[in-house]
Amino acid sequence: MAQAWGFSRYGGPEVQEFFDRPDPVPGPGEVLVRVEVAGVNPMDHVMRSAPVPGLDSGRPFPRVLGMEAAGTVLASGEGVDGLDVGDPVFGFALTGGGTYAETTVLSAPHTARIPAGLSPTVAATLPVAGTTAVDALDQLGLPASATVLINGVGGGVGLLVARLAVARGLRVIGTGSSAKREAAESIGVRFVDYTAGDVLAAARELIPDGADGIVDLVGGVSLRTVAPLARDPRNVIAVNDMSVSGVGGRFIERRIDRESLERAARLALDGLLTPVITAVHPLADAPAALAAVENGDTAGKAVIKVA
Ligand SMILES: NC(=O)c1ccc[n+]([C@@H]2O[C@H](COP(=O)([O-])OP(=O)(O)OC[C@H]3O[C@@H](n4cnc5c(N)ncnc54)[C@H](OP(=O)(O)O)[C@@H]3O)[C@@H](O)[C@H]2O)c1
Repeated sequence: MAQAWGFSRYGGPEVQEFFDRPDPVPGPGEVLVRVEVAGVNPMDHVMRSAPVPGLDSGRPFPRVLGMEAAGTVLASGEGVDGLDVGDPVFGFALTGGGTYAETTVLSAPHTARIPAGLSPTVAATLPVAGTTAVDALDQLGLPASATVLINGVGGGVGLLVARLAVARGLRVIGTGSSAKREAAESIGVRFVDYTAGDVLAAARELIPDGADGIVDLVGGVSLRTVAPLARDPRNVIAVNDMSVSGVGGRFIERRIDRESLERAARLALDGLLTPVITAVHPLADAPAALAAVENGDTAGKAVIKVA
């Protein structure tokens, strides 16, 4: 039996619980993995709170939380290419395995080997936040010295976008609450505290000519407030709010295949996509790890070290 942390019905943090489960059996195209590190993401509590169409319909309870992990392959299902038992890997649990657990199944086409020199802790942050950062900036395709505004710069994705943008020679402006200022400024972001007053006016003071692109990680009113800063509305890329088309922007086009994971890992190895990992929690502390993300307290990424 393997220890796992999840939930038995939809709801708030009160529905979360530890339980034991047999090792999942890898189906076709899946690998069974001993989890070393699991990444913590906002989508984890979103999926605990209510059904998410297309992601969890029909899965039995109890469900294990978590959608990304790094670990070691223990067994393969049918039709798995390019991953062998004993390989250190990182990737997505897309079929309901959940990763806040001692073992899980990862989707082999969405899983890659961890290259030598990359730690499992860093690798565990790349499937969700790392590839999102790469996709957002690729979609913008801005030349060096262009200006990008990152709305919600202080979180797991935001600081990674900022790191990569700085590495690509972009001028980076970011919004966040005062608690995120230090983390953002330490990697070269010119910071706007959205809790300190008129965020649009404060950003315009820093970039009177506007931004060449915006990566929005917040959505809603916040997205609509900063969107006018984009010189070309098509260069507003949103990651969680499909209504971005209403301001002329585009929803992010995601790539989560093995090739995109390998690319993110190479960028991380080269020091261009280095996550800010603010908290490494043991599995027993999973409630605190998810609470920190759910409350927006984490500057950068939180991870759960399982093994
Ligand atoms: N489409 C995809 O494939 C994809 C992939 C990854 C993530 N996402 C989504 O992207 C979003 C961000 O992910 P994440 O992992 O970076 O989450 P996160 O770590 O929770 O970061 C979100 C950040 O936004 C800040 N924020 C909240 N309200 C704000 C506002 N009005 N103005 C500026 N900043 C604000 C929060 O803290 P402060 O308020 O303290 O600044 C926090 O730092 C989530 O909704 C996630 O589900 C989508």
